[in-house]
Amino acid sequence: QQSVITDKFGRALQDLRISVTDRCNFRCRYCMPREIFGKDFAFLPKEHLLSFEEIERLTKVFLELGVRKIRLTGGEPLLRRDIKHLIERLANLDGLEDIGLTTNGVLLGKMATGLKQAGLKRVNVSLDAIDDETFMKINDSNVKSQPVIDSIIKAKEAGLKVKVNMVVKKGMNDHQILPMANFFKKIGVTLRFIEFMDVGQTNGWDFKHVVTKKEIFEMIANEHDLEAVDPAYFGEVAKRYRYTGTDIEVGFITSVSESFCSSCTRARIAADGHFFTCLFAGEGLNLKDILRDGATNQELTETIISRWKYRDDRYSDERTEETAKNRKKIEMSYIGG
Ligand code: GTP
Ligand code: 5AD
Ligand code: SF4
Ligand code: SF4
Repeated sequence: QQSVITDKFGRALQDLRISVTDRCNFRCRYCMPREIFGKDFAFLPKEHLLSFEEIERLTKVFLELGVRKIRLTGGEPLLRRDIKHLIERLANLDGLEDIGLTTNGVLLGKMATGLKQAGLKRVNVSLDAIDDETFMKINDSNVKSQPVIDSIIKAKEAGLKVKVNMVVKKGMNDHQILPMANFFKKIGVTLRFIEFMDVGQTNGWDFKHVVTKKEIFEMIANEHDLEAVDPAYFGEVAKRYRYTGTDIEVGFITSVSESFCSSCTRARIAADGHFFTCLFAGEGLNLKDILRDGATNQELTETIISRWKYRDDRYSDERTEETAKNRKKIEMSYIGG
């Protein structure tokens, strides 16, 4: 079925990313530094979170608008109580073709079988280093890489499709690029390198922290033959390659060096029901209040359409030192990446 709405640049609304909590059991230095996300940080109180009923209702409205793909995010989505039940409610909705979840993997091993049974198809697991000292310095939570690797293997065994995401930041974990590539090649799991982005207000981003796709590609191509793989669907974020002669892939998410705004079909809903049309947006549209004020599905649909129709976001195309420093942006842990 063809999507019924497009934005100012003709981009259809195809994917919906739903954040189910702003909390996380990690404190990655580049995402939720302890100085800010410490004991006194005010996370969303429970009554401000969308309930499962509300998430299901919104999802149905988005599916009628042409969305085919849903991804649950956080914070850490597996911290949301009874997340399995939410997946059960969403997985069988009419029109849904794909449902995935992005997680740091800590709780995934124990939950994988249940998530699969609930109808989840895919998980993307974040892992920024294999070397424990590096990984623990990044996650600032005393978690070694082995438990995350065990979760990745359990998820595969449970029948979920698994990809690994590694954010690369110069001086933080660039020495882990080859060890990560070699390890995930060996166990046959797709690894995707993400260029470090200037999300939020707290991550101290600078162009000089970015290790570009080209640089990472060359490091890997020095040791292995790679061949390009076509995108799986229009607007796929990662550029895909495979190790020649195998079906094992690596990918690159090039938000900084080769932005992909022109094919950006993604909408995002934060855990408190704010609707965003860009990861780098400053403000969202409060769908929760509209819902709780008793709006009909028709009214919700019209509100969303009118927002999407006027969408002209293309932040990564426009990024400069100036926008990186001075533009007001929401936090990654709130919007879910
Ligand atoms: P797949 O469906 O498996 O391709 O998932 P995905 O890559 O869309 O989702 P995932 O949560 O694994 O995202 C990986 C990285 O890509 C995260 O760092 C996201 O922030 C980044 N990303 C995803 N969508 C966008 C986007 O629209 N814009 C930008 N700038 N980055 C994005
Ligand atoms: N730049 C790029 N990726 C980031 N992520 C979190 N913060 C950033 C950033 N500043 C990643 C997480 C996870 C994904 C959802 O987003 O590590 O893999
Ligand atoms: Fe780290 Fe992801 Fe948690 Fe942010 S949301 S602190 S990147 S695990
Ligand atoms: Fe989409 Fe905004 Fe990312 Fe561009 S920067 S790809 S518009 S979410």
